[in-house]
Amino acid sequence: MIRLRNIRKSFGTDEVLKGVDLDVEDGEVVVVIGPSGAGKTTLLRCINFLDEPDSGEVTVGCTTIDARKYDKRDVLAVRRKTAMIFQHYNLFRNRTALGNVMEGPVQVQHRPRKEAEARSRELLDSVGLADKCTCFPSQLSGGQQQRVGIARALALDPEAMLFDEPTSALDPELVGEVLAVMRKVAELGMTMVVVTHEMAFAREVADRVVFMDEGAIVEQGLPEDVLGNPAHERTRRFLRRILPQQVDPLLYGGAENLLSNATHPQNASSSPTEDDYTLHVAAQTAVKQALDVDSTTSGPRSAAFQTVPTHTSETTPEPAIDAVLTSRTVAQTTGKPAGLVR
Ligand SMILES: Nc1ncnc2c1ncn2[C@@H]1O[C@H](COP(=O)(O)OP(=O)(O)OP(=O)(O)O)[C@@H](O)[C@H]1O
Ligand SMILES: [Mg+2]
Repeated sequence: MIRLRNIRKSFGTDEVLKGVDLDVEDGEVVVVIGPSGAGKTTLLRCINFLDEPDSGEVTVGCTTIDARKYDKRDVLAVRRKTAMIFQHYNLFRNRTALGNVMEGPVQVQHRPRKEAEARSRELLDSVGLADKCTCFPSQLSGGQQQRVGIARALALDPEAMLFDEPTSALDPELVGEVLAVMRKVAELGMTMVVVTHEMAFAREVADRVVFMDEGAIVEQGLPEDVLGNPAHERTRRFLRRILPQQVDPLLYGGAENLLSNATHPQNASSSPTEDDYTLHVAAQTAVKQALDVDSTTSGPRSAAFQTVPTHTSETTPEPAIDAVLTSRTVAQTTGKPAGLVR
């Protein structure tokens, strides 16, 4: 459990957190969105005192820290309970994937090497990298490095994981594989605070979405409410900017959800395959094109997406894309848009 009370933080005269309260329950996944400079990163870094709040109270599990007077041991305790995953994966360049994952358990937790190695191999397997244990970071793609980063964080058995735009430095075709791993971590019941602009992930995985602007939480709630029917104009303005083609956010989310269904294997215990990632990108492009067919006419909202079959590892990816492309063609020829907008 994470509880923030009245967190304030200034850099010089710039007050970047203006008394933020936030509660994250055990096992809850909270996605934080908001414009650049809103204070999202600073808020994450205040949770584990990488940035020291000027005032306020941070609780993680049974440790509470009052920013005005605290014992450094409490900060260490909080850091041990929280793992942070950054945009840039910060792996040790001179260690293999396995070496990176083992580092924490061996050096910090003083676990026996053999035990740490076995667990680290398991974790690398769980993020789909069983065959990359001996690779150095320079031999891995960005997505693979980020997955090593997640395995490394998991190796320390954190109570909560804090993700700061974990996919924003990745080439688009690598985003899906990292989100798939994060989704799996969420399904295992990890408490997660995730700063991301991946709206499909927010809709599908988040229990709650928090919208921040100018150092404060403007609104928070269920993903479908905050993203689909925001209460505040500032949220609407932000969503309009980041959701392409001015598609009704709810519809767009619907399309993306179907995309995710189409691209994530139903068998959550199996690791995502290359096919799944390829499909993710191809289908995403196809859906976005489909959404672009006609953004002015109204019509049967979900026609395009009802036809998207669910893809599992056993099926080939093509039908999903075909269905979208076909419905796009249908939409173009019949003039009935395939699931769009205002
Ligand atoms: N170490 C620092 N020194 C001075 N100012 C800082 C520092 N870190 C952040 N800031 C300022 O605090 C404000 C909030 O920054 P923060 O990085 O938390 O925003 P953000 O919401 O994460 O933005 P982005 O989406 O661009 O990552 C910004 O105006 C930023 O310039
Ligand atoms: Mg940031």
